[in-house]
Amino acid sequence: MWEEAQLIESPLAPNRAIKARCARCHAQDGRDLKYFNYSKWSIVARSQFHGLSEKQGQQIASYIRSMFLTLDVRGILHINLAQGWIANLCRCGQRELVSMWYLSEMQMLAYVFPDGTTPQAIHQVADTKGTLNIREIPVAMQFPDCNAWLPEVHPLDLWGDIFVGGVNGPSPQQAYLETQQEFEEKGVE
Ligand code: HEC
Repeated sequence: MWEEAQLIESPLAPNRAIKARCARCHAQDGRDLKYFNYSKWSIVARSQFHGLSEKQGQQIASYIRSMFLTLDVRGILHINLAQGWIANLCRCGQRELVSMWYLSEMQMLAYVFPDGTTPQAIHQVADTKGTLNIREIPVAMQFPDCNAWLPEVHPLDLWGDIFVGGVNGPSPQQAYLETQQEFEEKGVE
């Protein structure tokens, strides 16, 4: 159902069937919903929003719940993990996380320059051949809610056949699949 169920755009357009599926707009296997710990209620409501029945929504919720992710999905206990930061930053509309995750730029300093700010220590980090990991540096600003990164309209519905078939060359879908395959074969490093 997550991959195949025929959906409608919204209750405002009950006759407007869309080509996109849950799996197309969200993470392919739905891990984003698991990761951000969306409630069963929320998943069922959203499924009904897209024209599915309550039961179908419950089945999707059950599938999401059954998924096993190794990281702590609430991200609260493992705040030192970069993965936890993602969850926290994206959900920092929640008050307890805001107070926990308020960082000043001065606090950030220690993460950027773990060995202090002597010219030599700065040079080590700023060196283009260095190993500064910008993905793991907490920042002092709030990112958009994770929902803001999802497509409101999938390219399948925006461009239709061109997305799949392309014009004079590989299609966007083909390019996407090739990129995905490369990540799978070569890893993300
Ligand atoms: C056309 C792309 C698209 C499709 C298809 C889609 N979603 Fe979403 N989904 C989104 C976007 C965009 C948001 C964020 C919307 C917002 O903030 O209002 C979202 C948000 C959600 C949320 C979070 C709602 C909340 O409480 O904040 C859930 C749960 C969800 N979708 C489940 C599903 C399920 C289940 C399906 C399949 C039945 C599905 N989505 C299909 C794009 C999509």
